[in-house]
Amino acid sequence: MIQKSDFDGYALYTLTSGELTVSVTELGATVTKLVFAGKTLSLGYETAAEYLAGRAYLGAIVGRYANRIGGGSFELGGRHYELTKNENGNTLHGADAFNTRRWQSAVEGESVVFTLFSPDGDEGFPGDLTARVRYSLADSALRIDFEGDAASDTLYAPTSHMYFNLDGSRDIRGHVLQLDAKGVLEVDGALIPTGRVLPAEGDFGYAAPRAIGHDLDHCFVLNGETACVISAGDLRLTVTTDYPAVQVYTGAFLGDAIGANRGFAVEPEFYPDSPHHADFPSTVLRAGEHYHKYAEYRFDTLN
Ligand code: GLA
Repeated sequence: MIQKSDFDGYALYTLTSGELTVSVTELGATVTKLVFAGKTLSLGYETAAEYLAGRAYLGAIVGRYANRIGGGSFELGGRHYELTKNENGNTLHGADAFNTRRWQSAVEGESVVFTLFSPDGDEGFPGDLTARVRYSLADSALRIDFEGDAASDTLYAPTSHMYFNLDGSRDIRGHVLQLDAKGVLEVDGALIPTGRVLPAEGDFGYAAPRAIGHDLDHCFVLNGETACVISAGDLRLTVTTDYPAVQVYTGAFLGDAIGANRGFAVEPEFYPDSPHHADFPSTVLRAGEHYHKYAEYRFDTLN
């Protein structure tokens, strides 16, 4: 079931399936609220103005390129491109990017589809690009399909930046995480990958479920499509994706308004800074090639 309403002048769609209710607005194609079994499990703001001013990308679609690009520039097809830089001289998720735009929206069956035209030169990226994001619910899962088509070769690697808190605790580092990773990207002090993939062990070892225990803001390379399982209280979230990696972020920088560590984000994605590492999976989208990736967030109640 899908209901349409208004969110400060932006269309808001509320999708319901069984015990799961998800509200998503055409501002940033953002999930403003996710409720399961009567509990709000997502972090969100109350007003559109807060989403536009916020720097935490709460619930938003980030793009064109999720995560960091070192130096905020790259080469493609023998040309050099300078991007908008918004963190330590690097590019993170985009400054005034997909998350602040008004997307076109349409209900298609039991899905809501958001479409955004991103013109050649948008935040420095080449090529006209049409981005499409589909939200669908089935049973107790939210599925997001990320699509795109470019008029000329470009970079494309969007994701969803939802934050969750499964038990309402002040600090989600007590949540239990199980993550099926074959490695974790080594990063420098500005969180730019060095190019080395370290074994996911020690502080980064979550093959067996255990409390998160400390701050994470790291990109884990996945073994398969079941990326991770996170539980707290009587709830469990399972994230499945065909992206090659997930950034797990425990919300250290969420700030006073929301509260540090009040929520965690699992961002299914390509590796950060891929354009500078030939051995990382490519994030080049060629003209005429159709882009399609998905992420699914499944909720269960534990007995
Ligand atoms: C990503 C980054 C974090 C933080 C959030 C947004 O998860 O890795 O460092 O910047 O986005 O606030």
